[in-house]
Amino acid sequence: MTSADAKLRIRELTDLIDYHNRQYYQLASPEISDYDFDMLLDELINLEKRFPDLADPLSPTQRVGGEITKEFETFTHIRPMLSLGNTYSQAELADWDNRVVKQLGYRPIYVCELKYDGLAISLHYENGKLVRAVTRGDGVRGDDVTNNVKTIKSVPLRLNGDFPESFEIRGEVILPHSAFNALNNQREIDGDAPFANPRNAAAGSIKLQDSAEVAHRGLDCMLYFVLGEGLDYDNHYDSLAAARSWGFKVPMYTIKAHSLADIYEFIDFWDIERNNLPFDIDGVVIKVNKYSEQEKLGFTAKSPRWAISYKFKAERVSTTLLDIVYQVGRTGAITPVAVLEPVQLAGTTVKRASLHNADVIAQLDVRIGDQVYVEKGGEIIPKIVGVDIDSRKEDSKPIEFISNCPECGTMLVREQGEAAWYCPAEDTCPPQIKGKLEHFISRKAMNIDSLGEGKTEALYEHGMVNNVADFYDLKPEQLLNIVKVYDDGIKRREVRFRDKTISNLLTSIEESKKVPFERVLFALGIRFVGETTAKKIASHFKSIEALASATRDQLITVDEVGDRIADSVVAWFSKAEHKEIIERLKSAGLTFEIGQATERKGNELQDKKFVVSGTFDFNGKPVARSVVQDFITSYGGIMVSSVSSKTNYIVAGDNMGPEKEKKAMSLGVSIISLTELLEMTNCDSI
Ligand code: IVH
Repeated sequence: MTSADAKLRIRELTDLIDYHNRQYYQLASPEISDYDFDMLLDELINLEKRFPDLADPLSPTQRVGGEITKEFETFTHIRPMLSLGNTYSQAELADWDNRVVKQLGYRPIYVCELKYDGLAISLHYENGKLVRAVTRGDGVRGDDVTNNVKTIKSVPLRLNGDFPESFEIRGEVILPHSAFNALNNQREIDGDAPFANPRNAAAGSIKLQDSAEVAHRGLDCMLYFVLGEGLDYDNHYDSLAAARSWGFKVPMYTIKAHSLADIYEFIDFWDIERNNLPFDIDGVVIKVNKYSEQEKLGFTAKSPRWAISYKFKAERVSTTLLDIVYQVGRTGAITPVAVLEPVQLAGTTVKRASLHNADVIAQLDVRIGDQVYVEKGGEIIPKIVGVDIDSRKEDSKPIEFISNCPECGTMLVREQGEAAWYCPAEDTCPPQIKGKLEHFISRKAMNIDSLGEGKTEALYEHGMVNNVADFYDLKPEQLLNIVKVYDDGIKRREVRFRDKTISNLLTSIEESKKVPFERVLFALGIRFVGETTAKKIASHFKSIEALASATRDQLITVDEVGDRIADSVVAWFSKAEHKEIIERLKSAGLTFEIGQATERKGNELQDKKFVVSGTFDFNGKPVARSVVQDFITSYGGIMVSSVSSKTNYIVAGDNMGPEKEKKAMSLGVSIISLTELLEMTNCDSI
């Protein structure tokens, strides 16, 4: 291919990918399968590799990130990013409307929008290309986070249609609930503190130094304000509609309002309906529609007079605190939980509320029998926000925080600078053992996917698995009679190990022996050793022997390993129980060296889930299924044992089972041949 041909094809692919990206992320109406989309993207990636001079900084391939920003540059906003005046009641809103009507001499047309709960962002476009993305900062100056914003799939890198030559558009970067939950689950597994709410998580994500990590977070961006000289429209509503046509995500929830009654109706509707949105809003925003009217109304020092927000009230109720119980998390952290007289709050019955830690209890000075105020704010779990001291009984006593673990009796410890008390018995305290076992089998660790949390718990409760090494000693005949019954008085569920379950389980345990060293290290659940740290440590020390004898000083030389992680690793390997577990895992045949497992050849199949089915041959010679599986993992793919909606591809050989085929078709999973698999990885042979 000549450079001229490549240039043409790169242009063509870029337009196609941008188009399909928009169909998917802005309009939610995809026209091609994920597989076909990935094929286009792969072709573009390869062309850009072959012709690096032709690669465009705004290429859709840049959405995966990779850029590292050590320190964000500051950018002074062309027009300051003001905030909005807040109102909390219809009366306050009527006052604002009165002021507007008085100043204009008539009631204008208003626009009502949702108030997205994230962080404000300003995007700059020149000749239809994204040139800069800046956070609000202090309103005057913000941080240039362009590399990170480029990874947000709903932010167009290039525009369509009749856009102004140069303009700014502002909006809100948010994290939808699904992405927020996935992120917090992962953080819990990694031993990182979860984010309190999606807003904090979005704000934390946009300031990450590694844009590839931002790309994984699943951020979204809703736009609500077009600014610039000489725009074609004389009002906000039409500008937003135009921005939508250029490729921006401008949600359709916006309406025009002609009266206060229209505004109240919008507020009342969304105060309830917000519970069904896939992202958080904290109110609505009302804006005067016409630009000429906005100009007439002008600004105060802090906010425009032509717009106001109405904030939804965090619903607050009062109830009695019956008791405080203490939960032991999988990391050993103790969380005090308030047991409440059941009460209705924001559509649900609340019986429990988090009290976070001992400091919070002390600050609130909350006591058993108190009337307490409970709110459901931005946080998912309701919280106690205050105490009605006046109604307190005379004989009430301050709470004394427990000193021993409620699960195993061990004396609790609190490290300097930390708010939480911990149970240090990590290898003997039941919830911590269960947490460790569940972490060990999880997808990003050993990926023993036929064992779920329920079955793991059953194995533990039947005394068959007490530590991670025990998984490798399981015998089929021991498993046959295990039954675990869950019964909460409403639903009864049984977990049972049947023949098929047992053989699947033993196969995936066997398969897990091929998991590379860095994931085995992550799976051990050493405190503070998350996925990334495990990778760095594994590639530095290369083997478990070298790591086990490493000193604190040697550990600190590893990229991203600080005092806290180094101390935790040294402490872990110094325990005799842990040395024994490692020895047992070694004799079971787990991978404890870099390079011992299938060598990593590329990232073309990164995190895609595969099922391999049927028999294979290549150039007339039979190819074992395990060879195909190893090939997939060596390119970053993940093997799963059965087809589900989460499976990305089935590699089908001859005689693929008809059941699998039917299931794949009904779930829309792509069925590909061995040849297609080789094409995806640009390989000529297996
Ligand atoms: S308009 C000059 N519209 O709320 C007015 N803001 O308290 C510019 N926000 O900083 C803001 N949804 O981060 C506007 N539909 C919406 C909004 C919205 C959320 C945020 C934004 C702003 C803050 C003001």
